[in-house]
Amino acid sequence: MNKTVEVLPDQPALVARALELILSKLETAIEQRGRFTIALSGGSTPKPLYEAIANQKLPWDKIHIFWGDERYVPPDHPDSNELMTRRAWLDRVDIPAVNIHPVPTLLANPEMAAAKYEQNLKEFFNSSGVEFPALDVVLLGMGDDAHTASLFPHTEALKVRDRLVTVGNKDGNPRITFTYPFINAASSVVFLVAGANKRPALAQVFAPVADDFTYPSRLIQPQGELWWLLDAAAGLELQD
Ligand code: 6PG
Repeated sequence: MNKTVEVLPDQPALVARALELILSKLETAIEQRGRFTIALSGGSTPKPLYEAIANQKLPWDKIHIFWGDERYVPPDHPDSNELMTRRAWLDRVDIPAVNIHPVPTLLANPEMAAAKYEQNLKEFFNSSGVEFPALDVVLLGMGDDAHTASLFPHTEALKVRDRLVTVGNKDGNPRITFTYPFINAASSVVFLVAGANKRPALAQVFAPVADDFTYPSRLIQPQGELWWLLDAAAGLELQD
Protein backbone atom coordinates (compact mmCIF):
# COMPACT_ATOMS: atom_id res chain seq x y z
CA MET A 1 0.00 0.00 0.00
CA ASN A 2 1.13 3.47 -0.88
CA LYS A 3 -0.27 5.98 1.63
CA THR A 4 -0.18 9.75 1.17
CA VAL A 5 -1.54 12.30 3.62
CA GLU A 6 -2.02 15.86 2.37
CA VAL A 7 -3.26 18.73 4.50
CA LEU A 8 -4.75 21.57 2.46
CA PRO A 9 -5.25 25.07 3.87
CA ASP A 10 -9.02 25.21 3.57
CA GLN A 11 -12.05 23.54 1.98
CA PRO A 12 -11.73 25.21 -1.46
CA ALA A 13 -8.10 24.02 -1.60
CA LEU A 14 -9.22 20.54 -0.52
CA VAL A 15 -11.77 20.45 -3.33
CA ALA A 16 -9.25 21.74 -5.88
CA ARG A 17 -6.71 19.06 -4.89
CA ALA A 18 -9.33 16.29 -4.96
CA LEU A 19 -10.43 17.45 -8.41
CA GLU A 20 -6.85 17.44 -9.68
CA LEU A 21 -6.20 13.96 -8.28
CA ILE A 22 -9.40 12.48 -9.69
CA LEU A 23 -8.81 14.04 -13.12
CA SER A 24 -5.33 12.55 -13.23
CA LYS A 25 -6.63 9.07 -12.29
CA LEU A 26 -9.37 9.47 -14.88
CA GLU A 27 -6.94 10.40 -17.64
CA THR A 28 -4.66 7.45 -16.90
CA ALA A 29 -7.53 4.96 -16.65
CA ILE A 30 -9.07 6.06 -19.93
CA GLU A 31 -5.69 6.03 -21.65
CA GLN A 32 -4.90 2.54 -20.38
CA ARG A 33 -8.28 0.82 -20.31
CA GLY A 34 -10.69 3.05 -22.21
CA ARG A 35 -12.89 3.74 -19.21
CA PHE A 36 -12.87 5.19 -15.70
CA THR A 37 -14.83 3.69 -12.80
CA ILE A 38 -15.45 5.64 -9.59
CA ALA A 39 -17.52 5.00 -6.48
CA LEU A 40 -18.85 8.11 -4.76
CA SER A 41 -19.62 8.95 -1.17
CA GLY A 42 -22.45 10.90 0.38
CA GLY A 43 -22.09 13.45 3.14
CA SER A 44 -21.57 17.17 2.77
CA THR A 45 -17.81 17.36 2.06
CA PRO A 46 -17.78 16.03 -1.54
CA LYS A 47 -20.70 18.13 -2.85
CA PRO A 48 -18.54 21.07 -4.06
CA LEU A 49 -16.21 18.51 -5.66
CA TYR A 50 -19.13 17.06 -7.62
CA GLU A 51 -20.08 20.58 -8.73
CA ALA A 52 -16.50 21.21 -9.82
CA ILE A 53 -16.38 17.94 -11.81
CA ALA A 54 -19.63 18.95 -13.56
CA ASN A 55 -17.87 22.06 -14.86
CA GLN A 56 -15.18 20.02 -16.63
CA LYS A 57 -15.25 18.95 -20.25
CA LEU A 58 -14.79 15.19 -19.96
CA PRO A 59 -15.39 12.09 -22.10
CA TRP A 60 -18.57 11.34 -20.16
CA ASP A 61 -19.36 8.21 -22.17
CA LYS A 62 -16.21 6.59 -20.77
CA ILE A 63 -16.99 7.38 -17.13
CA HIS A 64 -18.93 4.96 -14.92
CA ILE A 65 -20.42 6.07 -11.63
CA PHE A 66 -21.14 3.84 -8.62
CA TRP A 67 -21.86 4.62 -4.97
CA GLY A 68 -19.84 3.20 -2.07
CA ASP A 69 -22.86 3.56 0.15
CA GLU A 70 -26.46 4.63 0.00
CA ARG A 71 -29.20 5.36 2.47
CA TYR A 72 -32.07 2.88 2.10
CA VAL A 73 -34.51 5.44 0.74
CA PRO A 74 -36.08 5.95 -2.71
CA PRO A 75 -33.86 7.80 -5.22
CA ASP A 76 -35.98 10.97 -4.99
CA HIS A 77 -35.75 11.14 -1.18
CA PRO A 78 -33.86 14.16 0.27
CA ASP A 79 -31.46 11.77 2.10
CA SER A 80 -30.50 9.90 -1.08
CA ASN A 81 -26.81 10.12 -1.99
CA GLU A 82 -27.81 9.46 -5.59
CA LEU A 83 -30.14 12.47 -5.58
CA MET A 84 -27.44 14.72 -4.13
CA THR A 85 -24.99 13.57 -6.79
CA ARG A 86 -27.48 13.96 -9.63
CA ARG A 87 -28.27 17.53 -8.60
CA ALA A 88 -24.66 18.56 -8.05
CA TRP A 89 -23.14 16.77 -11.03
CA LEU A 90 -24.85 14.09 -13.12
CA ASP A 91 -27.95 16.05 -14.21
CA ARG A 92 -25.68 18.84 -15.39
CA VAL A 93 -23.53 16.83 -17.82
CA ASP A 94 -24.08 14.68 -20.85
CA ILE A 95 -23.36 11.32 -19.23
CA PRO A 96 -25.24 8.34 -20.71
CA ALA A 97 -27.87 6.96 -18.30
CA VAL A 98 -26.36 3.47 -18.67
CA ASN A 99 -23.09 4.75 -17.18
CA ILE A 100 -24.84 5.59 -13.90
CA HIS A 101 -25.06 2.59 -11.58
CA PRO A 102 -27.13 3.58 -8.53
CA VAL A 103 -27.86 1.33 -5.58
CA PRO A 104 -31.30 -0.22 -6.14
CA THR A 105 -33.28 0.89 -3.09
CA LEU A 106 -36.79 0.03 -4.23
CA LEU A 107 -36.52 -3.72 -3.70
CA ALA A 108 -38.44 -5.62 -1.01
CA ASN A 109 -35.75 -5.32 1.65
CA PRO A 110 -32.18 -4.04 2.17
CA GLU A 111 -30.66 -7.55 1.95
CA MET A 112 -32.13 -7.96 -1.54
CA ALA A 113 -30.90 -4.50 -2.51
CA ALA A 114 -27.35 -5.34 -1.36
CA ALA A 115 -27.42 -8.67 -3.23
CA LYS A 116 -28.72 -6.99 -6.40
CA TYR A 117 -26.07 -4.24 -6.30
CA GLU A 118 -23.38 -6.88 -5.82
CA GLN A 119 -24.75 -8.78 -8.83
CA ASN A 120 -24.78 -5.57 -10.92
CA LEU A 121 -21.16 -4.88 -9.97
CA LYS A 122 -20.03 -8.41 -10.79
CA GLU A 123 -21.78 -8.28 -14.14
CA PHE A 124 -20.23 -4.91 -14.95
CA PHE A 125 -16.74 -6.07 -14.01
CA ASN A 126 -17.30 -9.54 -15.38
CA SER A 127 -15.86 -10.95 -12.15
CA SER A 128 -16.24 -14.46 -10.81
CA GLY A 129 -17.60 -15.28 -7.35
CA VAL A 130 -14.24 -15.35 -5.64
CA GLU A 131 -12.50 -12.22 -6.79
CA PHE A 132 -12.98 -8.60 -5.75
CA PRO A 133 -13.00 -6.36 -8.82
CA ALA A 134 -10.94 -3.14 -8.63
CA LEU A 135 -12.61 0.22 -9.15
CA ASP A 136 -10.23 2.92 -10.37
CA VAL A 137 -11.21 5.24 -7.52
CA VAL A 138 -13.29 4.82 -4.38
CA LEU A 139 -14.02 8.20 -2.86
CA LEU A 140 -14.75 8.12 0.87
CA GLY A 141 -15.71 10.48 3.65
CA MET A 142 -15.23 9.86 7.33
CA GLY A 143 -17.68 10.62 10.13
CA ASP A 144 -16.60 12.00 13.50
CA ASP A 145 -17.16 8.46 14.87
CA ALA A 146 -14.56 7.22 12.33
CA HIS A 147 -17.14 5.44 10.17
CA THR A 148 -16.63 5.40 6.45
CA ALA A 149 -19.06 4.48 3.67
CA SER A 150 -21.81 2.92 5.86
CA LEU A 151 -19.37 0.89 7.92
CA PHE A 152 -20.34 2.09 11.39
CA PRO A 153 -18.55 1.24 14.66
CA HIS A 154 -19.43 -2.13 16.21
CA THR A 155 -21.81 -3.22 13.45
CA GLU A 156 -22.11 -6.57 11.67
CA ALA A 157 -21.14 -5.01 8.34
CA LEU A 158 -17.55 -4.75 9.62
CA LYS A 159 -17.32 -8.55 9.77
CA VAL A 160 -18.39 -9.16 6.19
CA ARG A 161 -15.41 -10.24 4.10
CA ASP A 162 -16.87 -12.58 1.52
CA ARG A 163 -19.09 -10.12 -0.35
CA LEU A 164 -18.79 -6.86 -2.26
CA VAL A 165 -21.87 -5.24 -0.76
CA THR A 166 -23.73 -5.64 2.51
CA VAL A 167 -26.28 -3.97 4.75
CA GLY A 168 -24.94 -1.33 7.12
CA ASN A 169 -26.69 -0.01 10.18
CA LYS A 170 -26.84 3.64 11.19
CA ASP A 171 -28.66 3.93 14.54
CA GLY A 172 -31.01 1.11 13.58
CA ASN A 173 -31.60 2.35 10.03
CA PRO A 174 -30.39 0.11 7.21
CA ARG A 175 -27.99 1.41 4.59
CA ILE A 176 -26.35 -0.34 1.67
CA THR A 177 -22.56 -0.29 1.72
CA PHE A 178 -19.47 -1.66 0.03
CA THR A 179 -17.62 -4.05 2.32
CA TYR A 180 -14.12 -3.10 3.42
CA PRO A 181 -12.38 -5.85 1.37
CA PHE A 182 -14.11 -4.58 -1.76
CA ILE A 183 -13.05 -0.99 -1.00
CA ASN A 184 -9.52 -2.28 -0.39
CA ALA A 185 -9.41 -3.88 -3.84
CA ALA A 186 -9.62 -0.44 -5.53
CA SER A 187 -6.67 0.98 -7.44
CA SER A 188 -6.98 4.21 -5.45
CA VAL A 189 -8.97 5.05 -2.33
CA VAL A 190 -9.36 8.76 -1.65
CA PHE A 191 -10.61 10.06 1.69
CA LEU A 192 -11.89 13.64 1.79
CA VAL A 193 -12.14 14.89 5.35
CA ALA A 194 -12.87 18.43 6.55
CA GLY A 195 -13.58 20.08 9.87
CA ALA A 196 -12.13 20.18 13.39
CA ASN A 197 -14.81 17.74 14.63
CA LYS A 198 -12.98 14.96 12.72
CA ARG A 199 -9.69 15.45 14.60
CA PRO A 200 -10.20 12.99 17.49
CA ALA A 201 -11.38 10.24 15.12
CA LEU A 202 -8.45 10.88 12.76
CA ALA A 203 -6.01 10.56 15.67
CA GLN A 204 -7.40 7.07 16.40
CA VAL A 205 -7.47 6.06 12.74
CA PHE A 206 -3.80 7.06 12.33
CA ALA A 207 -2.66 5.64 15.67
CA PRO A 208 -0.28 2.63 15.40
CA VAL A 209 -2.62 0.61 17.63
CA ALA A 210 -6.37 1.07 18.14
CA ASP A 211 -9.52 -1.02 17.76
CA ASP A 212 -10.67 -1.45 14.16
CA PHE A 213 -14.23 -2.19 15.27
CA THR A 214 -14.42 1.08 17.18
CA TYR A 215 -12.71 3.09 14.40
CA PRO A 216 -13.81 1.42 11.14
CA SER A 217 -11.80 3.70 8.82
CA ARG A 218 -8.73 1.79 10.09
CA LEU A 219 -9.94 -1.18 8.02
CA ILE A 220 -9.29 0.73 4.81
CA GLN A 221 -5.84 -0.50 3.78
CA PRO A 222 -6.05 -0.80 -0.01
CA GLN A 223 -3.74 -2.85 -2.16
CA GLY A 224 -3.27 0.20 -4.37
CA GLU A 225 -2.98 3.85 -3.36
CA LEU A 226 -4.49 5.35 -0.22
CA TRP A 227 -4.93 9.13 -0.20
CA TRP A 228 -6.03 11.13 2.82
CA LEU A 229 -6.91 14.67 1.74
CA LEU A 230 -7.64 16.79 4.80
CA ASP A 231 -8.37 20.43 5.37
CA ALA A 232 -6.24 22.24 7.96
CA ALA A 233 -8.99 22.10 10.57
CA ALA A 234 -9.11 18.28 10.37
CA GLY A 235 -5.42 17.67 9.75
CA LEU A 236 -3.82 20.08 12.19
CA GLU A 237 -1.88 17.41 14.09
CA LEU A 238 -1.22 15.09 11.17
CA GLN A 239 1.04 17.02 8.83
CA ASP A 240 3.74 14.65 7.53
C1 6PG B 1 -22.97 8.97 3.83
C2 6PG B 1 -21.53 8.70 3.72
C3 6PG B 1 -20.68 8.87 4.92
C4 6PG B 1 -20.00 10.24 4.87
C5 6PG B 1 -19.43 10.61 6.21
C6 6PG B 1 -18.81 12.00 6.20
O1 6PG B 1 -23.70 8.58 2.96
O2 6PG B 1 -23.35 9.57 4.85
O3 6PG B 1 -21.01 8.22 2.57
O4 6PG B 1 -19.76 7.85 5.11
O5 6PG B 1 -19.01 10.23 3.90
O6 6PG B 1 -20.45 10.56 7.17
O7 6PG B 1 -19.79 12.96 5.97
P1 6PG B 1 -19.47 14.51 5.88
O8 6PG B 1 -18.76 14.73 4.57
O9 6PG B 1 -20.84 15.17 5.86
O10 6PG B 1 -18.67 14.86 7.06
